[in-house]
Amino acid sequence: MGITIREENSVDHVAVFQVVEEAFKTMEFSDHSEQFLVERLRKSPAFVPGLSLVAEHNHALIGHILLTRITIKNGDQVFDSLALAPVSVKPAFQRKGVGAKLILEAHKRAKDLGFKSIILLGHADYYPRFGYQPTSKYGIKLPFEVPEENCMVFALTENGLDGVHGMVEYPEAFYS
Ligand SMILES: CC(C)(COP(=O)(O)OP(=O)(O)OC[C@H]1O[C@@H](n2cnc3c(N)ncnc32)[C@H](O)[C@@H]1OP(=O)(O)O)[C@@H](O)C(=O)NCCC(=O)NCCS
Repeated sequence: MGITIREENSVDHVAVFQVVEEAFKTMEFSDHSEQFLVERLRKSPAFVPGLSLVAEHNHALIGHILLTRITIKNGDQVFDSLALAPVSVKPAFQRKGVGAKLILEAHKRAKDLGFKSIILLGHADYYPRFGYQPTSKYGIKLPFEVPEENCMVFALTENGLDGVHGMVEYPEAFYS
């Protein structure tokens, strides 16, 4: 299956909305509003140009991934990081490697931009294959009442998490 991963542009916004909406429609642990989260994050200071990516197949959008800026705070220490949220693949194209392609390309681009780590809240069975580890291993806490196994972190560079611990601060757009 020919898949192209590329940076999202403004012409894609409507199609991305639909991909995200469709992907989460039947998800149990979802409030089915992730498409609005993407719209808010795009307009927020947390948005990083170049880290909203789409997957294309036969000139149609079938997947999307978004990484946005967050910080990890420990007293006066502030560490820059990224949140992976959300990643979406149209149901008809799931389990064909599209999600993996989006995640790996997002990692590469984030690293090229100088980011050192990525935090996410997600399926405990899916992300470890990409190198994600429990945040608890690093003393990193997420400000949500969620099972520990769903809170994960990935170091984009060898020493990306050296000395990093504390509480993740998400931008306003995650809560509105
Ligand atoms: C999660 C998601 C992005 C994965 O994309 P994908 O293209 O289907 O995934 P890939 O093809 O790269 O990988 C497939 C493997 O991922 C795993 N996987 C996919 N969805 C999963 C899920 N919801 N829970 C656990 N594992 C999952 C399976 O092990 C699958 O392997 P299998 O074919 O042997 O069963 C996609 O399924 C999706 O959009 N789901 C709905 C939205 C969502 O849950 N987003 C993530 C929020 S954390």
